[in-house]
This record gives sequence, structure tokens and C-alpha cells, in this order.
Amino acid sequence: MNAMTTTTKETATGTATAAPVLEASGVTMRFGGLTAVRDVDLTVREGEIVGLIGPNGAGKTTFFNCLTGLYVPTEGQVSYKGTVLPPKPHLVTQAGIARTFQNIRLFSNMTVLENVLVGRHTRTKEGLWSALLRGPGFRKAEAASRERAMELLEFVGLASKAEHLARNLPYGEQRKLEIARALASDPGLLLLDEPTAGMNQSETRTTEELVFAIRDRGIAVLVIEHDMKFIFKLCDRVAVLVQGEKLVEGTSEVVQGDERVVAAYLGTPYEGAPGAEEAAEVEAAEAHAAAEAQEAEEAGDAAAPESAEDDEAAEADEGTAPEDTAPSDDTPAAGTGKASGADSTTEGDSK
Ligand SMILES: Nc1ncnc2c1ncn2[C@@H]1O[C@H](COP(=O)(O)OP(=O)(O)OP(=O)(O)O)[C@@H](O)[C@H]1O
Ligand SMILES: [Mg+2]
Repeated sequence: MNAMTTTTKETATGTATAAPVLEASGVTMRFGGLTAVRDVDLTVREGEIVGLIGPNGAGKTTFFNCLTGLYVPTEGQVSYKGTVLPPKPHLVTQAGIARTFQNIRLFSNMTVLENVLVGRHTRTKEGLWSALLRGPGFRKAEAASRERAMELLEFVGLASKAEHLARNLPYGEQRKLEIARALASDPGLLLLDEPTAGMNQSETRTTEELVFAIRDRGIAVLVIEHDMKFIFKLCDRVAVLVQGEKLVEGTSEVVQGDERVVAAYLGTPYEGAPGAEEAAEVEAAEAHAAAEAQEAEEAGDAAAPESAEDDEAAEADEGTAPEDTAPSDDTPAAGTGKASGADSTTEGDSK
């Protein structure tokens, strides 16, 4: 962990003029009638840590899937260091983009070290099967690969667990192992999908240091996270996705101060927002109705105590309440299920 000394957002070079590593332009992803990502442009430059935030179901993971070739975008294109990427995961990895997954994808019955070695196969001539079957070519290249993998485990703080089975690592360490595995492909850009999900505070702080250290190694980072403290501390720039569209993009300060972002998260309308006027009218009408009900109740109380029949009616009403408030289709947490569908594609593809 000695590499993790940088704790500021200062980059080695000014980022405004640095060369673009990733350029996504007009990326749109439709699933049948649903547009999960709509016309999104995003650039990540050398030396940058860029954040991608937004409420559940905003399209963040779908956007990552479009960047990495898991999904073929309905429209738009993605370039890495000036070259348009073909939408094929292994070609994207080979070009220099690595990622971690919202739902951890590790070979759980392999050791920690083996997981990193598998991540390295795109950069060795021998390939995945040779690595798994331990052919002669693999053994020759093995020493160098092991050394590199151990260095990466050291870097993420897992060297002492190299021989443990991946499935026996605590959750937070599995996330770090995923990062080590991603780094093993020697990327120029690392995409992290919720790297601190499920971590405690101290693990989250170490992960912050780790992301700074990755950037200091010359790897640009694009990170999705719901932990705003983490995002605003780390990122040179933050883009906000809401319902598939990029709502705002700017420095942490700009994004934090934008009332539309707050509104998007809280689900409250902001001044001038579409529907704000109607919402205000509804609110006023509701307040008026509540005041009237209160008055009526006070008048009723004064006239006569509640009858037993009224109580029964109230109970019956309560009984129907849960159905009325059942979660709708767009309730958060949709992300997990379908992301795993995408992930299984990856596993198939990594062969
Ligand atoms: N393969 C798919 N088929 C159909 N719909 C999909 C598919 N993948 C994603 N979606 C839909 O696209 C929308 C965006 O989902 P996505 O997982 O990208 O959101 P997210 O911003 O990553 O959310 P979270 O913060 O919960 O992870 C959701 O409505 C989701 O149901
Ligand atoms: Mg997601």
C-alpha cells in the first residue's frame, strides 16, 4: 500500500488540455420501448478521475456496458485514444479498457492469485485456456506473470491472501481483488461500477486512496458510485445521469451546487422544472383538503364520539393500504437483476 500516498485531486498535468482517453458520443441504448441511455456524450482525459452518478435505474451500468462492448449501442460510438472501438468485450479489453462489475464477478473456487492471473491473459500470448490448463507455454510465461500479479495484489493490499480461495475473502476484499484483476490487463482506462458498495467506512477510505494511486500510475478512471462523499472527494469531473440522459456535468463543486441534481435524487421538482407548476398546485390542493378534513374532524369530535361502525370502516381501509402502496415497476434495485444478465455474457466472452 506504499504506492497510495496521494490524497488530493491534483493531477500531474492540467486535465483540460490532456489528450482524451475515452470519447463516447451520442450513445443511446434502447431495450424495446425503453430508452435506458439517451444520446450521452462523455470524455475522459489522461490523468482524470471522472464520476458517473445518478439515481437507481438511471442507466449508469447500461452506459458502462455500451462502453465495454457488452451491449451494442443502438446509436452512437465509443473511441479509445482516438480509435473507434468495435463493440466486442475482448477487443475493448485488448485496446486498453478494463472494468469491474456492480455484481462481483470472480472465479470463486480459484485462489486470489489465480484470479489475477486470469485477468492477465489478454496481455500474454498464451491465452486463457493455456493459463487454466497450465500448458508448457504458460509455464514459461508464468514466472513473469506471477510476479506482476503479486505486485498488483501488493498494490491493492491483498498480497498476504494470494493463496486464499476468492470465495473466502470478505466482501470488501473481493471488490479489491476485482480491481487487481482488472489492472492485470494493463489498461489505460479503468471503469469501476460501485467499487465501495457493501464496504465499511474504513474500507471505503482505503479504496479512495487506491483510486488516487491508480490514477497516479497513469490510468484514467471512470467511476460509478452512490457514495457522494467518495465521488466528490475523488473526481475531477462528475457527470449526472437521470433517466438515461446526462443532466449536468462539471466539477464536484458545480454538481453539488446544482439544484437539478438535488431534485433528481430527492424526486422533488425544482423551480422551472417541467411539471413544477402542476406539482405546486397539487401540493396546495392537498394542504387545503387536509385543513378541511382537520376542521371537519374537530367539529365531529365536538358533536359526537366516533361510532363502532366508523372504526370498522377504518380498519378495512387499512387492510387495503399495502396494495395501494405496492412498489411500482420503477422502484430502485432493478439494477442488480439485469446487470447479472449482462455479466454472464461477460463470463462467456472472456474465454
Ligand atoms: N438488458 C436489459 N434489458 C432490458 N432493460 C434493461 C437491460 N439492462 C438495463 N435495463 C434497464 O435500463 C434501465 C437502466 O438500468 P441500469 O442498470 O443501467 O441503471 P443504473 O443507473 O446502473 O442503476 P443502479 O444505480 O441501480 O445500478 C433500467 O430501467 C433497467 O431496467
Ligand atoms: Mg448500476
